[in-house]
Parts: sequence; C-alpha cells; structure tokens
Amino acid sequence: MMHRLQRQTVPASIVNLADHEQQARQHLDDNAWAYFGGGAGDEITLRANRTAWDALRLQPRVLQRLAGGHTRTTLLGRTLAHPMMLAPVAFQRLAHIDGELASAYAAAALGTGMVLSTQASTPLETVAQAFLADVGSGPLWFQLYLQHDRGFTRTLVQRAEAAGYEALVLTVDAPVSGIRDRERRVGFHLPPGIRAVNLDGLSPRPSRPLQAGRSALFDDLLHDAPTWDDVQWLQSITHLPVLLKGVLHPDDARQAAAIGVAGLIVSNHGGRTLDTALTTAQALPAIVQAVQGRLPVLVDGGIRRGTDVFKALALGASAVLLGRPAIHGLANAGAVGVAHVLRLLRDELEATMALMGCATLADVAAANLLGNPA
Ligand SMILES: Cc1cc2nc3c(=O)[nH]c(=O)nc-3n(C[C@H](O)[C@H](O)[C@H](O)COP(=O)(O)O)c2cc1C
Repeated sequence: MMHRLQRQTVPASIVNLADHEQQARQHLDDNAWAYFGGGAGDEITLRANRTAWDALRLQPRVLQRLAGGHTRTTLLGRTLAHPMMLAPVAFQRLAHIDGELASAYAAAALGTGMVLSTQASTPLETVAQAFLADVGSGPLWFQLYLQHDRGFTRTLVQRAEAAGYEALVLTVDAPVSGIRDRERRVGFHLPPGIRAVNLDGLSPRPSRPLQAGRSALFDDLLHDAPTWDDVQWLQSITHLPVLLKGVLHPDDARQAAAIGVAGLIVSNHGGRTLDTALTTAQALPAIVQAVQGRLPVLVDGGIRRGTDVFKALALGASAVLLGRPAIHGLANAGAVGVAHVLRLLRDELEATMALMGCATLADVAAANLLGNPA
C-alpha cells in the first residue's frame, strides 16, 4: 500500500534556508536535533564549511545578454534542471514521518537529483518507485557503505540496480564514525520503528577476540573497512557507474581517476567525521585540477545560498549536494518543505547568475571569484 504524504504548508515568514533551520528546531526533539545538526569534535569543520563559502567574493560582469538563460546542466549523460542534488542523509523518518519518501517526491517534482543513503529509514525500492514515477525527475543514485558481509553488500547493489538507481556513491570518509559530542551528551538513540531498513537481514559483524592491550578499532573493526581494492571489487560486480564521496586530497582524486571511478564528491561529511579537516571550498580547486576534467567533481558541505552554489561551480564543481537544509525543510513541512528549500535555492541561483552576468552555467568561471576560502 502506498504511503500517503502529509499535506503541510510553509509559513510565509520563512524566506531562506537559515529561516528553515531556525524553524526546524521547533519540530525536532533534542535527540533528533543533536543527530541532524551535530558535527565531530569541536565542530570546527562544521562551522568552517559555511564561512569558507562566505569568504569568497563575487566579481560581476555587467551588460551581458541574459534573456533565455537557464540553470540546466548535464551530469553523467543526464540533464539536470539545476546543478543540485539531495545528499544522502540517514534516518530521515526521524525528522518527519514521511521521511525519505517526502524527499523523493519533492526532489523529483523539481528535477533535483537524489542520493539515497544506505541507512535510509525507507525501503530503497519504495523511494525509487516514488521518485521515478515523475517523468521529469533528475538522476537517482544509491549511496553505499560497504558492509562487513560482502555477499550482503552485493545483494544490496543488485537491489539498487533492479530498482532503477543510476549510479552508486561509495562513501569513503567514514571508516569509523566521527566522535560527535552532541550526540553523546543527549544519549542519541533511534526511536522504535526507525531503523536502517535496507540492512534488515544483515548478520551482526563477528568481532575478533581482542588480546589485552590491543585496539578495538585497529585490531577488530577496521579489518572490514574498505580499501582501494574494494572500490575495484565494487566496480567489478556492478554495471552502474561508481562515484566516491568524501575525497579531499588530490592524490586520492588522481588514484580514483586512474581506476576509472565515474565521479568524485568533495565532502567532509558535513563536518561529522574528522574535525579540523579542511573545508570543502578549500579542497575543491586542487581536486578539480588533479582530475583535469576526466570526471565530474561534485561538492557538499555548508551550501546554504544560491551564491554558494554559484561559487562552487566557479571553482569547477559540476553540481552541489545539500544535506541538512533538506532535513530542515522536511521537519518543517514534509515534502512541501523540502520542495520549498530546493525552490528557494534555485531562485537564488538564478538571481545570482543574472547579477553576475551569466546566462548559463557555461558562463560561470573562476574569473568571477576573488579571495580564498578561509
Ligand atoms: C544527519 C546526517 C546524516 C548523514 N548520513 C549520511 C549517510 O548515511 N551517508 C553519507 O554518505 N553521508 C551522510 N551524511 C553526509 C551528507 O551526505 C553530506 O555530506 C553533508 O550533510 C553535507 O553537508 P551539509 O549538511 O552542510 O549540506 C549525513 C549528514 C547528516 C547531517
């Protein structure tokens, strides 16, 4: 039976993504707020992701022909209505009862691409059915965390292929969870009924007996962490393009390009893994330079304004992903809230392009930027 979405409205007082964030606090309890909002350690990277975009200054051109302009772009052979996708964010039913399904309907309606998390709280098939029912939908990708049980992982990949996902996004920046103090303080827990449903049936990871003085991380858990060999294994078991998410070092970007990875997502997991990791605005130019146009580079982290999207493209990104802003929209008004967030950002991007003298994204260039991401 199809789940019926709640019909909600967004208060007229919400005019930007920061308003959405503030309003979302009213709808989320302390447990969910700590989970969605928190970052690792002292949250230095979490904050810096934002200020890095702010530190870049725009240098506009005037008197350009703008009529007939648009935000369309192509990515891995697909046309996107605008260079934005929903980032994979786990357990979205913690933000709203409609969870990932609401995000899927909203993204599809606006032609925004979507990446579904391995840890989604809605079956991947249900999300795909909702998303792909819209003829104008953008790309639908599946984010993969390699599981200790590679047989299970293979089955998960086959399910994603059968359901119509067009690419796999292997997240490589979280061999362990970040140390997230906000979550530890509230004693974060998943309420009954919310779980990573796509991992149902996965057997518990058999732990290795630890001798005294050995590390639970290095001598047990990390035996199952993915390596470059696993990327190639993944490529060998799927016909889908494989992208890597969480790359910050140009040498890793070069290695990825060398083994035929289809694309990269420059990301520090929204500041949730390694605190004081460099910001994504800082990392992006070197990654773009390293891959020399051989594969598309996407970026996420702290994108909250149309000007941020523009700056990311000016630094060479093909598209951006949005994490928390979609969750704030979801918490505020379900599918309507997510759609509102996407619409606001798209409108801001259009206005930014016009004010910068760029009719299309092909006109966006590094020469439009001054300054360094702080
Ligand atoms: C609550 C939360 C859960 C997330 N879950 C996942 C996940 O399951 N897989 C993944 O690759 N990234 C995950 N991310 C990272 C996002 O995909 C993305 O990199 C990040 O949120 C971008 O930063 P932003 O929130 O500032 O837009 C998560 C982020 C948040 C905030």
